[in-house]
Amino acid sequence: MSFTKKTIKDIDLKGKKVLLRADYNVPLDEKGHITDDFRLQQSLPTVRYLLEHGAAVIICSHLGRPDGKPNPAYSLFPVAKALGKLLETEVEFAPDCVGERAEKAAKKLKPGQVLLLENLRYHAEEEANDDAFAGQLASLADVFVQDGFGVVHRAHASTEAVTHHLPSAAGLLLEREVDTITSAMENPERPLVAVVGGAKIADKIEILQRFIEIADVVAVGGAMANTFLHATGLKVGKSKIEPDDLPLAKEIMHRVADVRKERDFVFYLPQDGVVANKLDSAAPTRIVDWSAHVIADIEAYPKRPVHESSQVADDEMILDIGPFSGAFIAGLIQLANTVVWNGTMGVTETKGLQGPIGPTAHGTELLTEAMLGQFGNRPFSIVGGGDTVGFVQARGLTASFNHVSTGGGASLELMSGRKLPGVEALENKT
Ligand code: 3PG
Repeated sequence: MSFTKKTIKDIDLKGKKVLLRADYNVPLDEKGHITDDFRLQQSLPTVRYLLEHGAAVIICSHLGRPDGKPNPAYSLFPVAKALGKLLETEVEFAPDCVGERAEKAAKKLKPGQVLLLENLRYHAEEEANDDAFAGQLASLADVFVQDGFGVVHRAHASTEAVTHHLPSAAGLLLEREVDTITSAMENPERPLVAVVGGAKIADKIEILQRFIEIADVVAVGGAMANTFLHATGLKVGKSKIEPDDLPLAKEIMHRVADVRKERDFVFYLPQDGVVANKLDSAAPTRIVDWSAHVIADIEAYPKRPVHESSQVADDEMILDIGPFSGAFIAGLIQLANTVVWNGTMGVTETKGLQGPIGPTAHGTELLTEAMLGQFGNRPFSIVGGGDTVGFVQARGLTASFNHVSTGGGASLELMSGRKLPGVEALENKT
């Protein structure tokens, strides 16, 4: 166990009013309907545990970034309704998180009942980690429980200052997230394969650096791979790259070369890619095989492959890893006992003309299949990061992985080895 903080299993809950910090920052459509209730679902075990052990549960959360002012577009009211349905009980709603209306609603709450407070970020004091505001929140309850894993990388009033006012413990979701991710990073069952994608190297520099030190394999995809490839001198046409990240890419590759001298280590950059000249599901794609030349050779045999088959044209962009790279990474996953995945391999949001998989999502799909054991080996799998989790959910595969994190920034920081202020602030077990 890597979790050293008190949890709700360590405290007496009977007859207590519990202030539960959740992360109900869920996507809403223009009509205010929740389009993805993953975070609500994942918080249910903690809410149920608290209710079953005799507590009255007062839930607080943020939603979006309303800049410290009330704004109906960011109201948690739709969440109260959705949560009530999931819990099969009425969830009371208070139109403010502090002050008279919140106090009145909290006061009349009985054990077994649930109250959801309006968006914490309607008050600028929340993000300012204001102690007086935290005191007001704390005055509603007897105990504080932190279960909003997605927000514990922020030192806000409801994650940090509030713990100075109430006895504090972790909820079941927070415990599972921190324990699973920390164990995989500190004591993984090897071989450990890290699959990292996403747009910018700078956004993931810390996690990349950590994986280079601890993993057996790091496979890179997504737009950040373009920047690495460009740094090696490959022509990437009009592919998305981050020119500011080029020195970082070179620095990382120098470190990779040093690590390779010290131990067996694979740092894999794509050898082929799916390219198109615009981002559109109807745009024709082709595979460019810039390094291996395997596909081009076979396609052209017995002639020499045409020049273009190994070059991204000036008006083309790389939008996914190619089949050779996908198969190569899938093969590495066959040898893994643990896979940590953060970032998709290509543009996965574009819908396909024939079926759910878009033309530039096949690389990500292939790796998903590999992680889930379709080719034999089924490693312990952890998925983190907003875009990756979105892909897994859209494919209906959330329950198929060993752990799908509810935190975007928080999981990234935890994987990078950073301390999370909202976890640090909680009481230790002993
Ligand atoms: C998230 O969605 O990553 C969390 O809810 C944190 O939200 P924030 O980035 O607005 O603090």
